[in-house]
Amino acid sequence: MKNVLVTGGAGYIGSHTVLALVDYGYNPIIVDNFSNASPKVIDRLEKLANRPIKCYSIDCCDKKALEQVFVENEIFGVIHFAGYKAVGESVQKPLMYYQNNLISLLNVVEVMHEHNCLNLIFSSSATVYGAPKSVPIYEDFPLHVTNPYGRTKLMIEEILTDYVKANPEFKVALLRYFNPIGAHESGLIGEDPNGIPNNLMPYITQVCIGKLDHVRVFGNDYPTKDGTGVRDYVHVMDLAVGHSLTLKKMENCSENLLIYNLGTGKGSSVLDVIHEMEKAVGHSIKYEIVARRAGDIAECYANCDKAYQELGFKAKYNLFDMCKSSWNFQQKNPNGIK
Ligand SMILES: NC(=O)c1ccc[n+]([C@@H]2O[C@H](COP(=O)([O-])OP(=O)(O)OC[C@H]3O[C@@H](n4cnc5c(N)ncnc54)[C@H](O)[C@@H]3O)[C@@H](O)[C@H]2O)c1
Repeated sequence: MKNVLVTGGAGYIGSHTVLALVDYGYNPIIVDNFSNASPKVIDRLEKLANRPIKCYSIDCCDKKALEQVFVENEIFGVIHFAGYKAVGESVQKPLMYYQNNLISLLNVVEVMHEHNCLNLIFSSSATVYGAPKSVPIYEDFPLHVTNPYGRTKLMIEEILTDYVKANPEFKVALLRYFNPIGAHESGLIGEDPNGIPNNLMPYITQVCIGKLDHVRVFGNDYPTKDGTGVRDYVHVMDLAVGHSLTLKKMENCSENLLIYNLGTGKGSSVLDVIHEMEKAVGHSIKYEIVARRAGDIAECYANCDKAYQELGFKAKYNLFDMCKSSWNFQQKNPNGIK
């Protein structure tokens, strides 16, 4: 079995991807500093995978510690999830974002280079498209970012593009995720934010469980079908499989820079999500329309044909499945994974 290092593997997308890697015959090894995840996630992953999962509690900004992982294990590829991801916080604390997101990536690539590890998947984001000229968004659309978090993603895409030009034997896949929601069907792992959630889905589930009073909908005067913002919500389990399919592709292809949108190709409005969640929980959900949020765009959804044609990636879960599994996770973990 090939060893795949999963940085940030205890986090939301990383933990689901660890399970998908096991399903596809890889041996995931986790590196996480638990800045945004509970160590309990590892026990839960072992239970779900029904086998031990090696985990190093280290910071990717600590290059020496990262090197030791490569000394102790022969690593076939790395999936680099580790990083900070809150847009608002990145505006308040830009240096913290540049420090963590850029230094951790540079360390990962340098250590890979030293150990002749040649396959890297990077967690990029639809945020690199900024306000797109039209939807759906194709991979060759112009890139434009509006906040420090997005800038770290774009800078890293550029760093890696330069790096593969200079090192053609090195392969990089840039996966631009749209809006991952949902949780593993067991309800043992899922999105587990600290404090008041920044993202819509954990906010809604916390309203449903009674921790928050109502959902705030930021604007209903966008030029969309119901006036609320439209996004491409994709089940985290589909996204997880997308990483395994990308690794398989990297094992067999000669191209050394792969770029894919991972979404469903379908836009859903904030009200669609609320109404779908009402079906999942069986009662109505209190919400209030408030002013637009600075920096938000009306519509953002992907064209995913390239990922389908080249990887065989196709999202199989619908919005109801996403809501149901998110709610299942919230119910089983009313106070998160503590
Ligand atoms: N969730 C989304 O909506 C979304 C969308 C697009 C892109 N992404 C990107 O995908 C990646 C994973 O996102 P997520 O939602 O799973 O986030 P997450 O915060 O749940 O997971 C990130 C994990 O990385 C760990 N980590 C952070 N800095 C680290 C460091 N220096 N060393 C070791 N571990 C570190 C955290 O403890 C956490 O477990 C991030 O890079 C994020 O920017 C996420």
